[in-house]
This record gives sequence, C-alpha cells and structure tokens, in this order.
Amino acid sequence: MDPTQVLEEAGQAHLVEHARTLPDEQRDAFLAEAAAEPWEELRAALKDEARRVPELRPPQALTFGRQANEQELVARLERMGLGLLAGGRVATLLLAGGQGTRLGVQGPKGNVVFGPEADRTLYRILGERVAAISKRVGKSVPFYVLVSEATEQATKEAFAASADWGLEDGQVRFLVQGTLPCLDDEGRALLAAPGVLARAPDGHGGAYHALLEAGVIDELAAQEIDVLTTWQVDNPLGRGLDPLMLGWMVERKLQAIGKAVRKATPDEKVGVFARDLKGKTRIVEYTELPPAPEATPGEAMEAPLVMGSIAIHGFAVQWLKRMADEGMRLPLHRARKKVPYLDAEGALVEPDEPNAWKLERFIFDLFPEAKRAEVHEVRREWEFAPVKNAEGVDSLATARVLVDAEVRRWHAERGLDAPETPSLRPLEMDGPR
Ligand code: UD1
Repeated sequence: MDPTQVLEEAGQAHLVEHARTLPDEQRDAFLAEAAAEPWEELRAALKDEARRVPELRPPQALTFGRQANEQELVARLERMGLGLLAGGRVATLLLAGGQGTRLGVQGPKGNVVFGPEADRTLYRILGERVAAISKRVGKSVPFYVLVSEATEQATKEAFAASADWGLEDGQVRFLVQGTLPCLDDEGRALLAAPGVLARAPDGHGGAYHALLEAGVIDELAAQEIDVLTTWQVDNPLGRGLDPLMLGWMVERKLQAIGKAVRKATPDEKVGVFARDLKGKTRIVEYTELPPAPEATPGEAMEAPLVMGSIAIHGFAVQWLKRMADEGMRLPLHRARKKVPYLDAEGALVEPDEPNAWKLERFIFDLFPEAKRAEVHEVRREWEFAPVKNAEGVDSLATARVLVDAEVRRWHAERGLDAPETPSLRPLEMDGPR
C-alpha cells in the first residue's frame, strides 16, 4: 500500500503533512520508514482495555533446599542442571539496554563500577560469573548481551576486555533492541527533528523480537540448546545460570521458570508473580499493580501478592520457537514520559512535564503464554542485590553491603576466612549451593 495511505489510515496524517515540508530526497525515505511502524498495535496499547490487569491470585511458589531432608533432591537437581550446562544445552541473555541515568552515571548501567577494585564494573562481575560456570562445567555457555542504541558502543568497548574476565573469544554476542515511536494522547507520533520521529527503546521484551529477527532462536534450536536464561545487569548477585533452576526446569518439563523472593516491604519496587483466573502464571510490574483491596470488616483479606520477581528467568527454546512460528507478539505497556518534540511551527519544545507515551515490551510477558510455568522462591541474601538508585534504598551502597555479607557468609559456612575486601569469588561461589 502507498505509505501516504497507510499513515492516513493509521491516524498519522500529520506525518504526511510534515513530509511535504521535507526536501525531495528525504521525503520518500521518511514516509517509507514511518509507514513501516506497527501503528495499530501502538495505538491499541494506549487504550484502557489494553492495560486492564486481570483478576489475580498469589502463585504457588516452590521452595527447596531449606529442609534437611531436601538436600538429596537439591543435589540431584543441581547435578541435572550442571549436566545440561556441560552438554552445551544452555545459553544466556543479559538484559543491559538500560542506562545509568537513575544512578547519576552516563552510559550503560553495566559500566558502573561496583568495586571493590576500580575495574570491577557490573559488566565484569556478571561476565566473570558466566566465565566461572563455563569453566566449571568445561563448556563455554553462549552469552548474549542485549544492548540498545544508546548502550551498544560503550558496551562493546567494555567487553573488549572480556578475555581478562575469563570469557572465551566468540563467547559473547550482542543483540540490539529496537525502538518505537513516542505518541501523544491521541496516538499521534511526535517528531524529534524534521524528518525524524521521536523514538524510545522498545523495552527488554524487544529482545524477544530482536532474537527472532536476528535468527538466534532458530540457531539455538539448531544447536540443540534447550534453555535460554535471562537476567539483568543491575544485580551483582544475580545467578543467571543457576544449576538448581535449570535442573528444576528439566525435572518439571517447564516452558518458563522465574525466581522470586518475598517482598521486603509492601512498596518494594519489584514486579510480582501472580496467577490469573485461568491459572496462568504471570508477572505484574509494580507500576501496573492495582491497589490492594480494602479489608472488609468480618471478611478474610485475600492473600496479598508478595512473591517479588528478581528478574531471572529460564525459557525453553523449543517453546520460544513454536510461539515465534505462531506469530506471538509480546504486548506493549505504556509509560508517561517527557519527550522533546517539534511543535506545529517546527520549533523544538523541551517539556517540563511528562507529555507523551513511550511504549515498551517486557520479556516476562512470555509467562502467561506458557502452559507449564513455575515460580522458584530463592534466598534473597544469596541472589538479590539490586542497584537502582544513586542513594538510599537499592543503591550501590546497599548492594555492596549485601555482596559483602554474602561473601562473608559463604566463607563462614565453609570454615574459611573471608577476604579483607570482599568481592564475589565467582568460580567457587557459582557452584551449587
Ligand atoms: C525490573 C523489573 C521488575 C523486577 C526488578 C528486579 C522490568 C520492567 N521490571 O524493574 O519486575 O522486579 O527489575 O530488580 O524489567 N533494560 C533493557 N532494555 C530496556 C529497558 C531495560 O535491556 O529497554 C534492562 C536494563 O538494563 C536492566 C533491566 O532491563 O537490566 C531492568 O530495567 P529497569 O527499567 O531498571 O527495571 P526496574 O524498574 O528496576
């Protein structure tokens, strides 16, 4: 169809108008690029019904390893997980498209120095963990790093040193997530400059579509890789290749698994695991959680949703491939943001208040698509040290205390002296727990 017609039918007639003001050589490219956007999907995401959260129940979260009589089970599952890793059946994807803005740092969050040494960035710490488990099982685990346009270059530069972290040549591959146009309240795209749409990263769920477009899911399936795990760059205690989680996936023939901790406070900023009325497991982002129902006198309060997601997941590759073949698309979530834009006179406006909608996909929206998905409750102190804010809660300072405590605990449990400046000792600490 003619791009002009596509845009007019998609409620973007203002872009056609704008194209008329562009030089000839720019006009066609602009129209073609704009017409290729998924307008129907974008505009539908602004509507109320797209955002209705279904009625939710707490999920059944499985915990093991806490009781003395579970040691055998844990050991068996861990052996299964290690076997899967050693057999080259696991790949991992680190979500690292975000920037350090909230920490007051320029560039990718992964380049934030966590310490104690000056070159121990989050990238390095997590890269070392992948190297450690690879070394342990004698098999190099394919390591994908999701970057955005804003983080790609600096991330590649940082990973140029990854041989020093123990990663092998060719082990790391980068995947660039896409962007989507930002919309005003009427669903019309904003312009960032003449002939340029205002755009924003499409969220880490963009990784799913980027993996498909780059042919990675097919490649993983062809290499007989069974599981793709995903984890985040902002958790230095993150164990994205946990043998226990992998063993549990195999044992239960799961399509999806996610790790959870009990929320520390009701307002902790974590997504929560829930089950909808169809029995599907899903994660509801903290920004979208409906307010907790008021207690009715005399009636029992419904159990609250307390299983917080630490954003470490495992997905079965064959299942991902099947969903891709069926054309599944992850839903879009909207967020109100300040987006600079060109006004009708062509002047650039820098808004003081949020003025537009950015649209994002979340990787964890894969969960409700799965017939077999489970939640694995883990020990917070072993696995979760979020680095989100410059100061206060979930800051570098609080995460350092958590990492220090974990290193000391790990050594104490083994009757060893902890190092003076604790930092993760990846090879040993990434063994089974
Ligand atoms: C995230 C999770 C939340 C979870 C919490 C645990 C989302 C939407 N929410 O919250 O459910 O409980 O972590 O700490 O994930 N990223 C990209 N591309 C993007 C946006 C983000 O790769 O376009 C990456 C970031 O680099 C980061 C991760 O995704 O590693 C999380 O992003 P962020 O927006 O900081 O999520 P939180 O609000 O912290």
